[in-house]
This record gives sequence, structure tokens and C-alpha cells, in this order.
Amino acid sequence: MSTFEIVALDPFDAPMFDAWHAAYFVAETHGREGTAAPWQLEELRVLMQQPSGRNWSAGWCGLVAGEVVTAGWLQTPLLDNLERASLSVHTVPDARRRGHGTAMLAHLEQVALDRGRMLIGAESSWGYEAGADGVGEPGPEFLRRTGYDLALSDVQRVATLPVPEEVLGRLAAEAAPHHAAYSLRSWSGRIPDELVLGWAELTASIATEAPTGGLELEPEVADVAMVREQEDVVARQGRAKYNTVALDAEGAVVAYTDLATTIHEQGRAYQWGTLVRRAHRGHRLGLAVKVANLRLLQRERPDITRLVTYNAEVNEHMIGVNEQLGFVPVARLGEYLKRLA
Ligand SMILES: CC(C)(COP(=O)(O)OP(=O)(O)OC[C@H]1O[C@@H](n2cnc3c(N)ncnc32)[C@H](O)[C@@H]1OP(=O)(O)O)[C@@H](O)C(=O)NCCC(=O)NCCS
Repeated sequence: MSTFEIVALDPFDAPMFDAWHAAYFVAETHGREGTAAPWQLEELRVLMQQPSGRNWSAGWCGLVAGEVVTAGWLQTPLLDNLERASLSVHTVPDARRRGHGTAMLAHLEQVALDRGRMLIGAESSWGYEAGADGVGEPGPEFLRRTGYDLALSDVQRVATLPVPEEVLGRLAAEAAPHHAAYSLRSWSGRIPDELVLGWAELTASIATEAPTGGLELEPEVADVAMVREQEDVVARQGRAKYNTVALDAEGAVVAYTDLATTIHEQGRAYQWGTLVRRAHRGHRLGLAVKVANLRLLQRERPDITRLVTYNAEVNEHMIGVNEQLGFVPVARLGEYLKRLA
């Protein structure tokens, strides 16, 4: 029987990187061909080739007879959450249940420990019908077996675009009297200079202001240089951003929503964050920014027919907003956590 060997991934070695991504991709999409939302090859290549000021990132190949059968990926935040790491393990279907995933996981945990990280996050997706704890599904079973606890249950939803303009117009008109003291601003691409500080501050708080279950996250550091760095990465990845903010009477950014398209997946867009500052909740700003952003997307990108979003299952308010826009549940995403001893 061939032995399993773990070697470090060189993101500049094209054949090696392509094989690593192929293993990740086939494992992530297996059995979920209609709903999986994996990173595309060129998106991940750009991400892993470019050192980031916010996140350290590295990959490993699990080889059997020279073929990549397991892909490992580890990221550690560099500016905040300094006790944390996030990992992912993917084994191709033909090589499962032989201990390769467990061996890769142990390797990644050791690297995390060597980097001083004790709190390890991992995610896994499965079909909606399998229920919130994913009993019998490979990812949840594997993570439970290796000591991870489900800290937050998310649901992936999809909307078919275009949402009819009469629906968007009605929702916008219903919300408008509630947010008369605020103005909305929508744009595609780079964040205007006069908004970027407010944007950095608001988006940095989404990890802790949105429901986090037992994830033990700290607020992120707000950093304009990091926002600009991410914009550069996004552009090099072939992705395009569509954004809407709400401004109060002083011009402060109090709510935002953003979504992205990618040249690597025709017809698809991904909803990213949506957040209303606590002090400004109750004015239907969440609905207002989402509707305005969707109108922008539909105006500029009539080729987009599918919008994908994730919400914590407990986030009833945001789910209510999404249901009004026609989103339907298609899959689950579990966010898991383990504290290394
Ligand atoms: C989860 C995954 C990485 C497991 O890879 P693997 O190489 O098969 O893992 P292992 O062989 O080390 O499995 C270890 C244990 O996990 C549990 N397990 C793994 N797959 C399982 C399944 N389909 N059903 C039930 N238990 C399972 C079992 O206890 C297994 O031990 P056993 O085979 O002795 O019963 C693989 O199925 C995969 O790539 N899934 C998609 C990506 C994903 O969800 N990754 C996990 C989080 S990052």
C-alpha cells in the first residue's frame, strides 16, 4: 500500500498548484454540484501568491504515489484575533476513509500551534435537507470525530435574478419613510476616498456585530490600507464589487452591503456583508441598502441570474429581508471551533 506524504504547497509552481486546487475543488463540490461555492483556481492562486498584511496563508499537498489526494490550507490573522487560525481539509472522494484527512488535519493543527495559535476554526458545507447538525455527512462527522464543536449554523440561500423591478420598487417605497434622515449611495468598484475610513470601521465590526454563536471572535482592526489591499486582490482575482452605504446627516457611514461577481463563474454573484450600526437600527436601513445594491447590480449586470448568500440560522431579521427578495434555502454551512490543549 502506498504511503501518504505531506509536502508544502508552492503557489508559484503551476502544476503543483493546479493539482492542489483540483483536489480541493473536486472534494468541495462532490455530491453538491448544484450548490457548492468553491474558490475558483485563479482566485485562489492570486490569494495564495500575494502576501497579505491581514492574513498569513499556506497550503499543503497530501500525496499518494505522487498524486494529490488531500489538500490542506491554513490561514492566521495578523492584525487581530491573534489566538486564532482557520483550516480546511479536502480529500478526493476515491481516497476517503483511509485516514488522510486526519493526518492532514493533525499537520495543520501543529503548524497553527507552532505559530502560537490555539483556537482553530473550520467550515464545512452540506445539503439543506441533512439538517443543522449534518449527521451522516462527511464534513460534520469528520470534524466531530477530530474534536471540533459546531459553533454557528449558517444557511446558504439563492435568489434568481432579476428580482422584478416592481418588487424592488415596492420594498424601497415601504422602507423610505423609515430612513428619511439618511441618504443612500451606491457604486461599483473601488470605495470612494471620502467613504473609505467609515467603510473600514463598519466592515471591521461585522465579524462580531453579526450573530457569532460560540465562535469567540474578537473585533477586527479597522485599517484603510487593508481595505485598499483587498480591493487590489479582488481586482486581480477577476472579481467585481457592487456596494451600497447609508450615510447619516453628518455623512458618517452607518450601514453597508456589498456583493461580488467573478469572471470565473458566469452569471453568478455572491452577497458579502450587510451591517447596520447598532445605534441606527430600526430604520429599515438593512432592507434599503440591499434593495439599492440589487438595483445597481441588475442595472449594470443584466447577465447575472443567480445571487448566493449565507446567513446564521438565528439571524431572523436578515433572513426576513432576504426572503422578501426571493431567496430560498439550498444548503448548510457549519462553522466549527476547537481549542487545542
Ligand atoms: C471531511 C473529509 C476531509 C474527510 O476526509 P478523509 O480523508 O475521508 O478523512 P479520514 O479518513 O481521516 O476520516 C476520519 C474519520 O472521520 C469520520 N468520517 C469521515 N468521513 C465520514 C463519513 N462520510 N461518514 C461518517 N464518518 C466520517 C470517521 O470517523 C472517520 O474515521 P473512520 O473512517 O475510521 O470511521 C472529506 O470527506 C472531504 O473532503 N469532505 C469535503 C470537505 C470538508 O467538509 N472538509 C472538512 C472540514 S475542513
